[in-house]
Amino acid sequence: MTKFLITSALPYVNGVKHLGNLAGSLLPADIHARYRRQTGHQVLFLCGTDEHGTPAELAAQAAGLPVADYCARQHAVQADIYRRFDLSFDHFSRTSQAANHKLTQEIFLRLDAAGHIEARTIQQAYSPTDGRFLPDRYVVGTCPHCGDANARGDQCEACTRLLDPEALVAPRSAVSGATDIEFRESRHLFLKLSAFAPALRAWLDRRNDWPLLVRSIARKWLDEGLRDRCITRDLSWGVPVPKAGFADKVFYVWFDAPIGYIAAAVEWAEAVPGRDWRDWWQGGDAVRHVQFLAKDNVPFHTVSFPATLLGSGLPLKLPDVIKGFNWLTYEGGKFSTSRRRGIFTDAALDLLPADTWRWWLAANAPEGSDSDFTVERFVDGVNKDLADTFGNLVNRCLSFTASAFGGTVPAGGQPGPAEQALVARLDLELAALCRHHDGLALRKAAASVRSLWKIANSYVAEAAPWSVVRHDRQRAAVITRTALNLVRLSASVAWPFIPKAASLVLMSLGEPADPPTWIGDGAMAISALPAGRALSMPPLLFPKITAQSLLAAAASASP
Ligand code: MF3
Ligand code: ZN
Repeated sequence: MTKFLITSALPYVNGVKHLGNLAGSLLPADIHARYRRQTGHQVLFLCGTDEHGTPAELAAQAAGLPVADYCARQHAVQADIYRRFDLSFDHFSRTSQAANHKLTQEIFLRLDAAGHIEARTIQQAYSPTDGRFLPDRYVVGTCPHCGDANARGDQCEACTRLLDPEALVAPRSAVSGATDIEFRESRHLFLKLSAFAPALRAWLDRRNDWPLLVRSIARKWLDEGLRDRCITRDLSWGVPVPKAGFADKVFYVWFDAPIGYIAAAVEWAEAVPGRDWRDWWQGGDAVRHVQFLAKDNVPFHTVSFPATLLGSGLPLKLPDVIKGFNWLTYEGGKFSTSRRRGIFTDAALDLLPADTWRWWLAANAPEGSDSDFTVERFVDGVNKDLADTFGNLVNRCLSFTASAFGGTVPAGGQPGPAEQALVARLDLELAALCRHHDGLALRKAAASVRSLWKIANSYVAEAAPWSVVRHDRQRAAVITRTALNLVRLSASVAWPFIPKAASLVLMSLGEPADPPTWIGDGAMAISALPAGRALSMPPLLFPKITAQSLLAAAASASP
């Protein structure tokens, strides 16, 4: 048994997330956590909302709420959605809470004492009309390179060049449109990242088993040379900086947010006597720390956060694996929160059960490359896999048992050559499934589950118990018992992906459902259910859907 510390990137508190956010960290992390629990490991699965930064402040302002109240409400909204998606967090935390403030300040003080922090004076955009400093991306103006009128102070999207806000022609505030932008001097604290380059490179060089996506982004950053990073901001919402002369500043949101992973464990431990967060974050090799995140988060998790941990001198674990994801696109374009383009997690749950979304998003996870959500591919995929393959297997085996054997697992007879051949196929596919889960290969793991469903379906179709029963009841009993065990196996391996439907099936078989028993090997799998056990019929699991019905429901659900 190993201990698995599993984290998903902390979603920003402002706004309900879209399916792409779910597919690119939250859901894969949940599936992995469930698989590890199911195979008998100890798991601590942590997440939470990332609550600091200008976007949260501005969203609160737009909503007419104090920022703390706004965050509390938005946190509750997201927590509820994730609960309905069956994301099995052991704790869903908030970076704006005391545990994270305390830990962030402590880590900063240690970095400072160790000489990793330096104060520098920089120019910051300030708008007297707005009465505030403006972060680079909240200053907009004309691009000095291409003349685009809507370039942001950090980057021009039209020509993709990186910018300094001072380079913009006719700068204005993105908050109010005010044109009275001044550049004022402001003292800030920098984390001297460059000093960590050798240690980070040595650490990353040993990670040959990580996804290529993550290694190549990390290597690119190191190769380009690490620049010292400003870790403070002229804002009021955030973790206060505990250093003389910086009382009116807070830490940059990307400094405190990943520390929130650790703070989440602290809160989790504080809730119940006897728990210790150090068993997880200071557990050395006895703990395997797996992080799930989208590709834009990779630099923070491979460079700045590890440097923060190393520089703190605390015996905190660096991640053992970072699983990064590409983008899920929507009908050939980007999902966009600001333009409300795509399907959002709250709306998705109004349309269809969580399992339907979970299955498709996992089976089509944007792993090796971006992947495209289209209504047509989605409808086709879930009908084939969930209704025609899994649902059909469950339904036909349980209804046949009800009609031919009074709804109990039939006794008698001995497995024959067909069952031996089945066992061999199951062994191969079960081994592949474990390999894929262990290697965090989500699409392949889903494909293995699908293959197991297909193996089960073809066994039942070929063995045809409904005809055999007319002339050989003993043999029909063997086939039916085997088929019911295949239903159990199919539900058990499906549970990390579609926990609700899988649990319903297992309960109708009288089997443990949370977590279900893991399937050891093919021989055990086909002989697990005791003869004579009474079964019940689960409800219809996956009614077929059509693109028309989905689009009609989506249209009537949107405001
Ligand atoms: N909120 C960030 C995003 O959605 C992710 C933060 S991950 C953490 O891109 F490590 F900083 F917590
Ligand atoms: Zn430009």
